Amino acid sequence: MLDIDREEITSDAPSLRELWRARKSSLDARDRSGVWRFREFLPFVDDVEIVSLGEGNTPLYDAPRCADYCHLPQLKLKHQGCNPTGSFKDTGMTVAVTQARQLGARFVACASTGNTAASLAAYAARADLPCAIIVPGGQVSHAKLAQALDYGAKVLEIEGNFDTCMNVIRELSEDGSVYLVNSINPFRIEGQKTVAFELAEQLEWRVPDHLVMPGGNLGNSSAFGKGFRELLQSGLIDRMPRITVVQATGAAPFARYYAHNGQGPFVNEEHPKTLASAIKIGAPVSWPKALRAVTETGGDVITVTEQESADGKAVIGRDGIGCEPASATTVAGIRKLVSDGVINENETVIAVLTGHLLKDTDYVMQYHNNSLMAPDNTHIAGNFANRPIKTSASLASIKSLLSVS
Ligand code: F0G
Repeated sequence: MLDIDREEITSDAPSLRELWRARKSSLDARDRSGVWRFREFLPFVDDVEIVSLGEGNTPLYDAPRCADYCHLPQLKLKHQGCNPTGSFKDTGMTVAVTQARQLGARFVACASTGNTAASLAAYAARADLPCAIIVPGGQVSHAKLAQALDYGAKVLEIEGNFDTCMNVIRELSEDGSVYLVNSINPFRIEGQKTVAFELAEQLEWRVPDHLVMPGGNLGNSSAFGKGFRELLQSGLIDRMPRITVVQATGAAPFARYYAHNGQGPFVNEEHPKTLASAIKIGAPVSWPKALRAVTETGGDVITVTEQESADGKAVIGRDGIGCEPASATTVAGIRKLVSDGVINENETVIAVLTGHLLKDTDYVMQYHNNSLMAPDNTHIAGNFANRPIKTSASLASIKSLLSVS
């Protein structure tokens, strides 16, 4: 890790901000990447040869319909689904695969619920590195698998869930056969933390009161914590946002642990269940770091039901934004936090959307056709369903359906 002189940065915060802003209009790949743009805080020498797909620089949207839904005057959505492979994983992967190449790794690998797999497959292809991904058979969305296949990764579907995959891959990496790039790899977290820098910049360095994100393996919340902590230590911001993690009720070991004040042993969820397959994780590897992020910022860890997430997702769609199911836990969670009085209407709130709408279209179609079923076989009501309408090609019937004359 480079020894960054934090004091020097503190005294120089304005010029650092200016440097980062100026890089946006540069044509250099390192300046154009929303991750490498902040390279003063990355553990690499300046002339490292990076593996980049132009990640980061994702939009921060105003979402008025989501705000209404949450009973807030304003709500902003940071859409990390607008990364090159459609999820936040790319911001970590550019750094992890750059490091893999630096180390001369011969094989890169990960366990995944789909997005890490898609991301690693793409970055490994760019780096010309052989890549293997281990996924729980039959539990990954087709869109994510399709990406990994197209990018040329060896896709191994195994019996069991994500946690089984994680155990296998850890064993495989221990004897050095493969270079592991799951979020226990610190280089992943280094890359992912830059989203805090980007977000602070988009808010003109005014820190929001609340930052709400989904939690699965808990790398993302750890990374946000680290990013904001470094910004604070460097005098680039004057406080940290309250970081709240949202889990699905059927896959909520971290929420359960937090509800017990982080006391006693961390108990894994042996059979995690949720339609939000990205966060169907029972044994999150990064929970200690995520716990630090939540506790030091005075945040929270909460759960939402499948119905709440599904409705939240549809409302995010109505803002013209959209996301994958796991990301929608955020808006559902914010609605709950407002109704519980944890968030009040004078506060600034950002929801982090982690994956793109097109990552799981089966879910979307079932919701809008009012046929979505929860893992416990209960029906999820299509409260905001927008069913396709079958009609003849006659002008009159189409006009009548559209109520135009
Ligand atoms: N949202 C999406 C869309 C994800 O893909 C993931 C994790 C999360 C949220 C949770 O983030 O694990 O850092 O707490 N997906 C991993 C994967 C596990 O394999 O793609 P986390």
